[in-house]
Amino acid sequence: MSYRVPFVDPREHYRRLKDEVDVAITDTLARGDLVLRSQLRDFERHLAEFVGVKYAVGVNSCYHALHFSLLAAGVGPGQEVITVAHTFLATISAIVHCGATPVLVDVGEDYNLDPHLLEEAITDRTKAILPVHLNGRVCEMERILGIAERHHLVVIEDAAQALGGTFKGKMAGSFGLAGCFSFYPLKALGGLGDGGAVTTNDAAVARMATLLRFNGEDRETGEFHYHGYTALLDNVQAAVLDVKLRHLPRWIDHRRRIAALYDHALEDVGDLRLPRFPEEHHVDSFQNYVIRTRQRDALRAYLTGQGVETLVHWSKPWWEHRGLQLREWDLPQTARICREVVSLPMSAETTEAQVDYTAQCIRTFFA
Ligand SMILES: Cc1ncc(COP(=O)(O)O)c(C=O)c1O
Repeated sequence: MSYRVPFVDPREHYRRLKDEVDVAITDTLARGDLVLRSQLRDFERHLAEFVGVKYAVGVNSCYHALHFSLLAAGVGPGQEVITVAHTFLATISAIVHCGATPVLVDVGEDYNLDPHLLEEAITDRTKAILPVHLNGRVCEMERILGIAERHHLVVIEDAAQALGGTFKGKMAGSFGLAGCFSFYPLKALGGLGDGGAVTTNDAAVARMATLLRFNGEDRETGEFHYHGYTALLDNVQAAVLDVKLRHLPRWIDHRRRIAALYDHALEDVGDLRLPRFPEEHHVDSFQNYVIRTRQRDALRAYLTGQGVETLVHWSKPWWEHRGLQLREWDLPQTARICREVVSLPMSAETTEAQVDYTAQCIRTFFA
């Protein structure tokens, strides 16, 4: 189905960047630089500079970035990792695939881990805390880091949705032992397919991620140090991401402008709750613009009928997916959010006219 207002518009995105992206791809191919070449190293250097850390290691998804970071932190069987249930499943799966147990806590109004609930979730088996900076908003990192320090716990950040978001002037992905990013095409910095990165100031973490992504091999010596994975960020992808990274600050400004337009246009409409959270310490990068209403399903169906594409992140708590074999959790905020949230069209290409039309449809629905 073609929408009058698409959630994102990959064709328009490519049209605007075509000249630069085409040159990056053809140059890389013409040089035969397919794996582990200068384009990957350049992108990693630029990403590390952007995030404000010493190292960035390109991998083929945020899932792998999370898995490798947890392994590098020493997470394994018999241990627990505290995270939120209101996240994409990959966050939780990475913990499970380390052989550890995910301990899920509820989120606050801003959809991020509620630091008040953190301490009571800590046991003598807790090894790490995995805060998720959802929708482009960084968690309350000062409090989370303080609790982690008091209990000698490692912090790994899931920053899949928050590249460019800041808390007290520091970038997402620069607070913990490692930060994990996604370059899945719908992300603010989206690649040609799957992609991700680990960011860290710790040389040992960077080295372990570098070895694990290439089946455990040290390319300099030929020695295999681990049973690793096949999880490289491809060179062509890195070349394209490097081009796009230069545009990212401007795109984030645009996203923030679109969010402000939605805020204004949807003020005092029905029972809508808008993503307006305290900003004195935060700069949110608005990966998503998420609204809440008790009439979510009816609103969504109406918007689809009017040609406005929306997404729901996520409609059923993970513990209700029986195949995942997670234990039952009592997280009232998370359960309510699953019933109430819907994300409106939001991208670097979203126009003021599209916001106006979407807001007008929403107002008509509630009228
Ligand atoms: C919060 C969060 N964590 C992890 C991931 C996994 O990212 P990837 O698809 O790159 O593995 C996503 C992807 O949507 C995400 O939104």
